[in-house]
Amino acid sequence: MTDSSESLAGVLSQQIRARIEAAGGWVGFDAFMALALYSPGLGYYANERPKFGSMPESGSDFVTAPEISPAFGRLLAAQVSEALERTDTREVWEFGAGTGALAEQLLGTLGDQVQRYTIVDLSGSLRARQQQRLAPFAAKLHWADALPDAMQGVVVGNEVLDAMPVQLLMRKKGQWFERGVVWDGAAGGFAWEDRPTALRPPLEIEGPQDYLTEIHAQGEAFVRTLAERLTRGAAFLIDYGFGEDEYYHPQRHMGTLVCHRAHRVDDNPLADLGLKDITAHVNFTGIAVAAQEAGMDVLGYTTQAHFLINCGLLQQLEQMPQGPRAMAAKLMMEHEMGELFKVIGLSRGVAPWPALGFVQGDRTHRL
Ligand SMILES: C[S@@+](CC[C@H](N)C(=O)[O-])C[C@H]1O[C@@H](n2cnc3c(N)ncnc32)[C@H](O)[C@@H]1O
Repeated sequence: MTDSSESLAGVLSQQIRARIEAAGGWVGFDAFMALALYSPGLGYYANERPKFGSMPESGSDFVTAPEISPAFGRLLAAQVSEALERTDTREVWEFGAGTGALAEQLLGTLGDQVQRYTIVDLSGSLRARQQQRLAPFAAKLHWADALPDAMQGVVVGNEVLDAMPVQLLMRKKGQWFERGVVWDGAAGGFAWEDRPTALRPPLEIEGPQDYLTEIHAQGEAFVRTLAERLTRGAAFLIDYGFGEDEYYHPQRHMGTLVCHRAHRVDDNPLADLGLKDITAHVNFTGIAVAAQEAGMDVLGYTTQAHFLINCGLLQQLEQMPQGPRAMAAKLMMEHEMGELFKVIGLSRGVAPWPALGFVQGDRTHRL
């Protein structure tokens, strides 16, 4: 670790330790994850360290679809364009815009169809980078720290739901506990502590085995808020995850929580705070149910591969030179992003329509 990383991790740890002590010595993992990722200036998404990029040498920790290939945004633009027409709106809202790559791809493809493009992010630290990259579109661009009370248009979010804090539930010898975090003075670090809880996963987990999993109150609350505020429009959220049958499968007994640092995965979110991403897969059934209960319709749910093929990926691949084609193909390949990543489409204030991205391979019935 460099001196500056060490001091960032040290200062953030001391802050979180003080918060845990102020809370009586224990916080649920969701509170810990929120502090580790979003503490102003220090949290992983709030500090200035590089995060996004295709190679570890650039200082990045992981790579996302718009960074892998600009085809991602160009294809998503086909769906956004259709949704703007159907909802008769002219605005795009992007949650968690990273380096601005997806915004650049969407704005470059959609042209005059978009009059206003608003980036909503909890972390202000990427704004300068986005402003620089998106300078040619400056007249249309706006930034917001939170959702406005009422909004219209088409919402997009790539890998945003997986960055929302989760609660951890642990079943040991048949009894359920909420897994939280304490400061272990003797060891000089954070440690797990489980407390009995009335919380349960949305499905009964069959079998007697010990079982660790996550529940996603914050992600679901986010979708409910979106549904309440979006008076007319649609949303397309892309992320890794599954429906709840698969999420809470008896064999998935270690949960899905992982950390990413320098393109490596580890399972210890209690160390190197502020220096690594912490993420959990998305339970898309929970997202769909939360959206429907708050008045949205589900336009479709499918794999990223099906979605992009429905939006014209195969035709685009034919026209690309070999290098870019190999990168764009990763977006749909089963062992890369094609199968694990899913897209959910939601609408509000308009009659649902057979949306382009879901015309073939829709899996809404499996949610
Ligand atoms: C893994 S990054 C994805 C970045 C980008 N979309 C991409 O694909 O490269 C997750 C982003 O979501 C943002 N985020 C998490 N929760 C959010 C929320 N409730 N509202 C807006 N942004 C959020 C984080 O700050 C972070 O910038």
